Amino acid sequence: MKVLVTGGLGFIGSNFIRHLLKARPSWKIVNLDKQTYAGNPANLKGLKVETIKKDICDPKAVDRAMKGCDFVVHFAAETHVDRSILDAGAFLKTNILGTQVLLDAALSQQVRRFVHVSTDEVYGSIPKGYSKEGDHLEPNSPYAASKAAADLLVRSYFVTHKAPVLVTRASNNYGPYQYPEKALPLMITNFMEDKPFPQYGDGKQVRDWLHVADHARGILLVLEKGILGEVYNIGGSYTCQNRELIQRVLRLMKQPNDLVARVEDRKGHDRRYALDCSKLKRLGFRHAYGFDEGLRQTIAWYQDNEAWWRPLKVAGGYRSYLQKAYKRK
Ligand code: NAD
Ligand code: TYD
Repeated sequence: MKVLVTGGLGFIGSNFIRHLLKARPSWKIVNLDKQTYAGNPANLKGLKVETIKKDICDPKAVDRAMKGCDFVVHFAAETHVDRSILDAGAFLKTNILGTQVLLDAALSQQVRRFVHVSTDEVYGSIPKGYSKEGDHLEPNSPYAASKAAADLLVRSYFVTHKAPVLVTRASNNYGPYQYPEKALPLMITNFMEDKPFPQYGDGKQVRDWLHVADHARGILLVLEKGILGEVYNIGGSYTCQNRELIQRVLRLMKQPNDLVARVEDRKGHDRRYALDCSKLKRLGFRHAYGFDEGLRQTIAWYQDNEAWWRPLKVAGGYRSYLQKAYKRK
């Protein structure tokens, strides 16, 4: 089998490739990645993968990369909500138009299965209960709206063109190789530097935490066993408020419980996400990671791999774009 992975230099794409190399060693993997600020060749260091450095919005490059592929697993996206609030342009281009270019190529190249990797954020904030795959979409950030638009485009290609597509919607991922602008790696690396974590608002927002290795296993299961045209939620094994997560990480890292800076809330901040994953479980999915073990291992990974994250924090000036947006309260 030959599989095209898009966005394989990012956090989840690189973890998926690592999983695939072990789980399906005979498969040939081609990685198409533009290498934006979030795409990091160090994420695939030492792995036998062909990487093509091109934009998914470039139809010729996409056609070439997809030639002879049986499967496509599409991760490439602009992914950080805070960036989408400040400047939505790249989100609409990559997440919507890029997906359209990939879908057209998948039709002309006659790929057998195409997994579009999406997010629980398309359902919007739910005060109680669990989002099911058939629920209506109510995205609140430009990031979530661009992902919801892409999900609907994928659906339209199934109905109109009988494209062999599947959609996965996952909750907040955590684990190794996550760019340190996202909450958990930012928290861990700040605490390693004795710096506070900037908590947005009251910290009572609820997120559902999924280990990236479990996400990779869920995606492979859907790729191989999912029903074409269907959507599958992939939720985590632990749900908590941000302020509980902060206290938990502080305890594990033996830092004082006041190493927190309360800053203004994110605009349009979603209060709660939660997924019903019974459909995926019916395909046979079980989590391999409990949150306790996963979180300890993740903290240890950032502690052992300072050489990986330090240059991203220093060189990127990665949060300077946010400093004006999030003032201390
Ligand atoms: P990431 O930001 O770490 O990586 C994104 C990758 O896509 C980078 O390697 C980047 O270079 C590449 N990319 C961006 N624009 C591109 C373009 N125009 N052409 C080619 N490559 C491009 O993202 P991630 O956290 O690994 O997320 C991967 C996917 O999973 C995304 O589609 C995201 O919406 C989805 N998802 C993420 C989470 C999460 O918690 N991180 C949860 C659910 C779903
Ligand atoms: P994030 O990792 O950006 O994921 P998402 O917004 O996609 O859920 O943020 C996770 C949660 O942590 C979210 O409720 C926002 C909050 N957060 C902070 O309180 N401070 C921060 O500096 C960041 C990046 C996030």
